[in-house]
Amino acid sequence: MRVKEIFQVYKENIMPTYNKVPLIFVKGKGSRLWDIKGKVYLDFFPGWGVGNLGHCHPKVMQGLRDQVSKLIFIPNNYYHPFQAKLAKELIYWSFPGKVFFANSGAEANEGAIKLARKFGDSSASEASQGRYEIITFENAFHGRTLATLAATGQKKYQKGFCPMPEGFKQVKLNDIVAFKQAITDKTVAVILELIQGEGGINIAERDFVLALRKICDEKRLLLIIDEVQTGIGRTGKMFCYQHYGITPDVMTLAKALGGGMPIGVMIVKNEFSDLLTPGMHASTFGGGPVICKAALGVFKAIQKDKLLKNCQNMGEYLLKKLNLLKTAYPIVKDVRGMGLMFGMELNINGKQVVDKCIERGLLINCTHEKVLRLMPALNISKNEIDKGVKILEEVLKGCA
Ligand SMILES: Cc1ncc(COP(=O)(O)O)c(C=O)c1O
Repeated sequence: MRVKEIFQVYKENIMPTYNKVPLIFVKGKGSRLWDIKGKVYLDFFPGWGVGNLGHCHPKVMQGLRDQVSKLIFIPNNYYHPFQAKLAKELIYWSFPGKVFFANSGAEANEGAIKLARKFGDSSASEASQGRYEIITFENAFHGRTLATLAATGQKKYQKGFCPMPEGFKQVKLNDIVAFKQAITDKTVAVILELIQGEGGINIAERDFVLALRKICDEKRLLLIIDEVQTGIGRTGKMFCYQHYGITPDVMTLAKALGGGMPIGVMIVKNEFSDLLTPGMHASTFGGGPVICKAALGVFKAIQKDKLLKNCQNMGEYLLKKLNLLKTAYPIVKDVRGMGLMFGMELNINGKQVVDKCIERGLLINCTHEKVLRLMPALNISKNEIDKGVKILEEVLKGCA
């Protein structure tokens, strides 16, 4: 198909649910992407958080190739070795518990919401029965299904789809007083992103998270940590919660776990992991052999290529460079982040910056209108960072 025809077919045959950039990509390797005309782009936002290993990592490709020639799919009423291996790997890196396999971040969170409802329904003590309310945080993002939209709480995403499922309320991030005031005898759980990704790279403060953990223990609330965007090494540790010295009761993952293949998981602490019994929850494609092999490739790559260390080192390097831009250009209001997950808040609308970066061959993202989001692959090199920051600087200079 030619370029014009592809655009035309999209226009006529694909639902217009995305704001699209007129670029057609055909090949990717590491932090580089090739468009249909052969132009090369440096990708500082690979796959909206999916590309922690960059594009087409050899370990992921090898896992996929090995498996497709043997068995592509087997449903969840049977067993296969690679779901077992992946569950073991996930528990090894996180906390003692059990895993449920799904296909996306929203689906993983949907599972966590159902688990919380079941917990409220079946808790041992009389006083805790009939609890269903879940507290989430302003500017959070947990997905696009109805329940995860209700958890997300942002009016701009909910508009047109009301009524929302009941039982969700939002409080301000890092406001422990507001959180305490929001708890009622119906509250059963909290869902928290430790760094709000879509919300503009807002970081949960350590004291706030520690206090939250304590309150959850005291009041028997499930602490559900949504690591769909922060997980799998993005912040320099395998999971972001590991920076805080807490353990979640439930953690959800997706995006980078499959190395580009669709996967979502919830990991549930042993104490709560048998709440959902046979027939209560399921996902046909969840944890199929091909996807599990890809995800095992992701863990192999992270260890073999020492990507947590590289993320820490390159994160420090990039942060220094971004702070220099902040000093040099007053349109940069703030730079914040952790590991290789950064937000650069501007005084101007970020779309013009994103568009001009794309023209010069650098892919970045803007969220919340003014926050540029940079989440390069964990295996990015100094040289690639230098190239990307140089482009960003030229663009900022032109906008200043
Ligand atoms: C923190 C967080 N949770 C959940 C989701 C939803 O994930 P998915 O698009 O895979 O359903 C996202 C997507 O951006 C996310 O960033």
